[in-house]
Amino acid sequence: MRMRNKPWAKGELEACPYYLADPFPIREHLHSLFPKSQPVHLELGCGKGVFLASLAVEHPQINYLGIDIKSLVLASAIRNINAAYEKADRPVDNVLLTPYDISRITNILSPADTVERIYINFCNPWDHPKQFKKRLTHPRQLAQYATFFPKGEIWFKTDDTMLFEHSLRYFEEAGYTLKAVERDLYHSPWLAQNHPTEHELRFVEQGLPIYFCIATKGQQG
Ligand SMILES: C[S@@+](CC[C@H](N)C(=O)[O-])C[C@H]1O[C@@H](n2cnc3c(N)ncnc32)[C@H](O)[C@@H]1O
Repeated sequence: MRMRNKPWAKGELEACPYYLADPFPIREHLHSLFPKSQPVHLELGCGKGVFLASLAVEHPQINYLGIDIKSLVLASAIRNINAAYEKADRPVDNVLLTPYDISRITNILSPADTVERIYINFCNPWDHPKQFKKRLTHPRQLAQYATFFPKGEIWFKTDDTMLFEHSLRYFEEAGYTLKAVERDLYHSPWLAQNHPTEHELRFVEQGLPIYFCIATKGQQG
């Protein structure tokens, strides 16, 4: 994602109580970092936080961790999240943001840091075979997520046909069950509970289909 210089970002990141500039203290302590003890859902590559802002404010009974490799985009996420909570007249008490490279995620999340749901939205498709292993849905990544994600759901959205079809296979090969598979989210029953992301809004405006699936693992309930 191309970023313009943001002279305000450093100050706003430093002042934000739910932004962890250093992700390493999260390891083994994720649950105690939230004011309320409740399930944690994780968004990988949360970008400017458009999705997280609208989802988290609507679900105060869930704690949300948003990770993106770029701290500058997280400065925009903070603005979006603050705006959503101000509108709802609530303090931001169920969100944490941290900058980190997801390909090394087990450095910051351990088996003690259990997550019950993972959201992956419009991640880079890496469409050259040599790059497949960089995909956030690649089996190599799914094996890493298993460290802190013993059971639950992965909610995945993309505009990329090949990434989607390959990812369905990745999930099944890794032992997930596909609970939902939609090749046109905006003409499916799942639209009612959809929270659009920043990238998604652009694709929808262009009339492009959004691919969506839910892959479940382990016993639910
Ligand atoms: C195409 S954008 C999508 C952003 C947002 N999810 C959306 O749908 O609007 C992909 C995001 O993933 C982040 N990203 C890509 N690779 C990453 C990695 N290895 N670790 C963490 N974040 C990553 C990028 O910085 C970018 O913000």
